[in-house]
Amino acid sequence: MTNSTGTRAAIDLEALTAPASGVEDYLERYLDERALPGNLREATKYAALAPGKRMRPLLVLYSCRAVGGEMEAAMAPAAAIEMIHAFSLVHDDLPAMDDDDLRRGRPTLHVKTNEAMAILAGDALMGLAFEMLMTRVSDAELARAVLGELAAGTNDMVAGQVYDTLPDFEEGIEPLERLKAIHRHKTGALIRASCRMGAMMGGADAGRLASITAYGEAIGLMFQVVDDLLDVTQTTEHLGKTAGKDIDQDKLTYPSVLGLDGTRGEVRRLSELAHASLEGFGEAARPLRDLCDYMSIRTN
Ligand code: IPE
Ligand code: IPE
Ligand code: MG
Ligand code: MG
Ligand code: MG
Repeated sequence: MTNSTGTRAAIDLEALTAPASGVEDYLERYLDERALPGNLREATKYAALAPGKRMRPLLVLYSCRAVGGEMEAAMAPAAAIEMIHAFSLVHDDLPAMDDDDLRRGRPTLHVKTNEAMAILAGDALMGLAFEMLMTRVSDAELARAVLGELAAGTNDMVAGQVYDTLPDFEEGIEPLERLKAIHRHKTGALIRASCRMGAMMGGADAGRLASITAYGEAIGLMFQVVDDLLDVTQTTEHLGKTAGKDIDQDKLTYPSVLGLDGTRGEVRRLSELAHASLEGFGEAARPLRDLCDYMSIRTN
């Protein structure tokens, strides 16, 4: 890992990801306490609390810190974005979509329960995420702002899933342009929203919010480029989800358009762009820099 002074610095991944457990506890309490049919409660907890990397919640917390806020203040958006992410995964895995039977090392929700429950649990997680922001962010103006971010991220994610699954692009758009549109929407949008919500909870001014947004856009695209790479370079066992799926399903991916070396070059370029966006933030943004580096070299 090369830091801003050009020397190598190791990332303490355990320390970097430690705040995720607080978000998990917060989310678990919410799903335990909220009135829900018992089987729906179990299904939402199965999907949202399964062992994921929790990158989006960490981005919310560390974006809040980067602009000078207390991470505790960003707990509700951190938990809410993980619910939206979990909903997107449950629906992404459905037979009508990517038709996957393994997720986060476990049977997918529709395999564990049935398709009706997977559809409904996804729906519930989306509603609960918005409810969480509405009820847990007490400042009305701030609540309105973060609700808007979550809505925009969710809507763009859904549009991206449509571009990916039921593409309807106009003639003449180059594959790389299509690919960017797919990835920026299906994955980039929730990552961008994570960063922006965190910065808003931390009271960022317009300049800082713009820088955090640029960081979020760079790592958001990078995250899916790496996901495409891992789909062809890692095993199912290591990923905890089915490897080789993209080729099987004839998906438009970075490796299929740019090849492995070209894809790796794109990861480097986006990582550098993310780092450049944080210039001037100093030590407060070190966790965001470390998360970017981790995301660029992750293997699952
Ligand atoms: C997987 O996301 C789906 C994408 C949007 C690429 P993650 O790689 O963040 O999955 P978890 O949360 O760690 O399981
Ligand atoms: C995931 O894209 C995008 C969303 C879930 C919104 P993929 O279909 O590539 O994700 P994985 O590889 O199944 O996790
Ligand atoms: Mg998919
Ligand atoms: Mg998929
Ligand atoms: Mg994938």
